[in-house]
Amino acid sequence: MYRTHTCGELRLQNLAEEVTLAGWVQRVRNLGGMTFIDLRDRYGITQLVVDDSCSDQVKEIASQLGREYVIQASGKVLERSSKNSKIPTGDIEIAVSTLRILNAAETPPFTIEDNTDGGDDLRMRYRYLDLRRGPLKNALMLRHRMAQVTRNFLSGENFMEIETPYMINSTPEGARDFLVPSRLNPGKFYALPQSPQTFKQLLMVAGYDRYFQIVRCFRDEDLRADRQPEFTQIDCEMSFVEQEDVLNIFERFAKTLFKEVLGVEIDYSFPRMSWHEAMAKYGSDKPDIRFGMEFNDITADVKGKDFVVFDSAEYVGAIVAEGCASYTRKQIDQLTDFVKRPQVGAKGLVWIRVEESGVKSSIDKFYTSEELQALVAKCGAKVGDLVLILAGDRKHTLSALNVLRLEMGDRLGLRDPKKFAPLWVVDFPLLEWDDETQRFYAMHHPFTSPKPEDVEWMESDPGRVRANAYDFVCNGVEVGGGSVRIFDSELQQKMFRLLGFTPEQAEAQFGFLMNAFKFGAPPHAGIAFGFDRFCSLFGGSESIRDYIAFPKNNQGRDVMVDSPTAIDPAQLVDLKIKLVEE
Ligand code: AMO
Repeated sequence: MYRTHTCGELRLQNLAEEVTLAGWVQRVRNLGGMTFIDLRDRYGITQLVVDDSCSDQVKEIASQLGREYVIQASGKVLERSSKNSKIPTGDIEIAVSTLRILNAAETPPFTIEDNTDGGDDLRMRYRYLDLRRGPLKNALMLRHRMAQVTRNFLSGENFMEIETPYMINSTPEGARDFLVPSRLNPGKFYALPQSPQTFKQLLMVAGYDRYFQIVRCFRDEDLRADRQPEFTQIDCEMSFVEQEDVLNIFERFAKTLFKEVLGVEIDYSFPRMSWHEAMAKYGSDKPDIRFGMEFNDITADVKGKDFVVFDSAEYVGAIVAEGCASYTRKQIDQLTDFVKRPQVGAKGLVWIRVEESGVKSSIDKFYTSEELQALVAKCGAKVGDLVLILAGDRKHTLSALNVLRLEMGDRLGLRDPKKFAPLWVVDFPLLEWDDETQRFYAMHHPFTSPKPEDVEWMESDPGRVRANAYDFVCNGVEVGGGSVRIFDSELQQKMFRLLGFTPEQAEAQFGFLMNAFKFGAPPHAGIAFGFDRFCSLFGGSESIRDYIAFPKNNQGRDVMVDSPTAIDPAQLVDLKIKLVEE
């Protein structure tokens, strides 16, 4: 037997027991006649002691140990004379009677401590070593626990976990597909699913009225802290339900996760905000409502004073940074540089300081102090506050003001990761116009149902049609999204027409679904949560990478196994694939 206990388990009540532990050497401290060894496994750290009373053989082996050696030690549990209250096993130690090296280890390229000296790249290359560290281990434990609570909750609500294929045809979720060539069908490709969307709808046609799956999805898109090329969804679909039923059950689901995983009780109904309201108040369809600082539309108030920036602007919006009137010129310049970065894209930043003695502003030249006072009053700013204003075309200005708001929220400490502010964003537009290609795209996906009362606008004013679609948002993160589906093939065909599909194209791409709908499709609706994002929200980190055992880096590479790689030319011949030179 390799071990009788784990390294996280022994306490004072085990005193005098003979035990055997196995694990990795975290640290060896040699204090003259005594050697202390911190032995680590997944469960914790236990201190081993080798002293003069030990056999020569034990002392000899102890002197050979290095970091990360895998060893086995037997001995008696003793009470420590100097206790360590920082670890659960800190009251005891093991007086070693036998010691065995199970495997020597090379010195690791970085320290395996909670605060490591290893850089990002190095740790990614040796991810299996990084995973030995406490923070990553805790992140994966959190993930496991969340999966467990998810399965329990959904199974308890009669959802069946059903697997859907990974080698499919294209799913139209808006990103690029990852493709897999088929040797048996030369020149043909499978696509990896961007989500199981069409399959879960087919399962509804098949009568499995409550489905879920914790499932890998693949999207070839630009990567960010909250985006991985392969990521996991908690994917769900239900039949004979309306939007309200879906929101209710998944609100209970989210509350159960908060309670059982974090011990956080949310005893109110999640607020619901229409997409239009979210955009107008926060410039974002995933507003962080842990703090206020809502947008004030002052477009109409600032026109006609010969300030060309405002006169020519489609939208002028202001936010109030409480208590920031004392910002120095340098701090304001920094903020201006911040909003002018290409990622944010504002042309400049206008400010009004509200001081005891009156208002001071970067636009004093154009506006009288009464006019500025009126703006301040409209925005609800008080003495001591700083009003920050951006102007330009509506879409970009809202988006830049959102970035500025979040930055100010960070600076003012208003975005505490331990505080949670969930909400539903509802009534999304059905379609989104794309200037570049001069056509409408489905904002969610082509199977999303328009609101019945808006169907009449589908042909005459498509941009006005709202969808029965909803997002679950928390702390500025889009954690999940879903919709009521179209289940009538005629309406579905109308939707394809709007999206610019010819009947032949629609038939070629979605014929199987349209066909299925002819055989008794129930009304259905669903949702998918980004599981990695849910985990990182719970863990309080911005990056989902920490919650994935083996993630890709920002270039979509796995530097540990070195993928993607060139492949053997013989494999290409098998697949009848010829690479084109750039
Ligand atoms: P959607 O495309 O909104 O909907 O995806 C659902 C959720 O998945 C997460 N997500 C991602 N997480 C990490 N990396 C990515 N690249 C990534 N892309 C998306 C987000 C998002 O809210 N089939 C529909 C759902 C439905 O209608 O039922 C769908 O996939 O948290």
